[in-house]
Order: sequence, then C-alpha cells, then structure tokens
Amino acid sequence: MGLLTVLPAPAAAADGKALFAKHCQACHQAGGKGLSGVFPPLAGNPNLVDQPQRIIDAVLKGKSGALEVNGVTYNGFMPPMNYLSNDDVAAIANYINLDLAGGQEKTDAGAVASLR
Ligand code: HEC
Repeated sequence: MGLLTVLPAPAAAADGKALFAKHCQACHQAGGKGLSGVFPPLAGNPNLVDQPQRIIDAVLKGKSGALEVNGVTYNGFMPPMNYLSNDDVAAIANYINLDLAGGQEKTDAGAVASLR
C-alpha cells in the first residue's frame, strides 16, 4: 500500500537541492563544498562525476574507510540514510552529479531500488 501510493509520483516532484539542504548539508556544507580533511566535498569531486551508483551507495549504506578527494585524505564515518525514498535518493544523486560534480548521467528511482 505504502509503496503503491508513492509510485505514481513523478520523479521531478522531488527537489534534489532542497533534499540535499535537509539531509546532507550539515556535514557536506552549503553547495557541497565540504570541510577539508573532515567532510569530503561533493562539488567538484572527481570520484563522483557520472558515478551515480557511488553516490546512491553512500546514501543507502553509509561510508567509512579512507578515501581521497583532490589530494586530501578522508577517513571518517557517514551513517546510512536508507530511510530516504528511492525518488528522494535519485533526486539527491542527480543534484550532486549534474549540478555539483559536473556530470551528465541521470539516474532514477529504479536504479536506487536495485542498489538497496
Ligand atoms: C553526519 C555527517 C554526514 C551526513 C549527514 C552526510 N554525509 Fe556524506 N560523508 C560523510 C563523511 C564523514 C564521509 C567520508 C567517509 C569516509 O571517510 O570514508 C562522507 C562521504 C560521502 C560520499 C563519498 C564521497 C567520495 O568521494 O566517494 C558521498 C557520495 C556522500 N558522502 C554523499 C552524501 C549525501 C548525498 C548525503 C545526504 C543524503 C550525505 N552524504 C550526508 C558525512 C556525512
């Protein structure tokens, strides 16, 4: 029932920028610019350009272990946020990839569902 009620909603209804501000910005900062050495930037992050599955994976499963962005090493912990809907995760991933990281590959709710 719950699933059926969300399916007909058009993907465009989810506002990636607003969702980012609500769920991600506290750590990744306004515009996804990050905090050097603590929270990796999402804007201009070469790991994320046209890698929507990497963004989706981080949101659904969280992220830990060393990673490097633009020559700076991060070794922190991001909690999983798998309570977000497929539409919302897709909208956030598209906002990050298309608007912040400079990519072109659009993802959708179906891709998020398959990565859960
Ligand atoms: C509580 C703080 C926090 C919140 C909230 C948070 N993150 Fe993170 N995020 C981190 C940290 C810390 C890392 C680095 C983890 C590591 O060092 O392995 C990270 C890593 C990432 C990465 C991996 C970057 C790379 O180069 O591979 C992505 C993508 C990401 N976050 C996206 C998001 C998105 C999208 C949201 C909102 C839905 C979000 N994060 C919310 C703290 C947070």
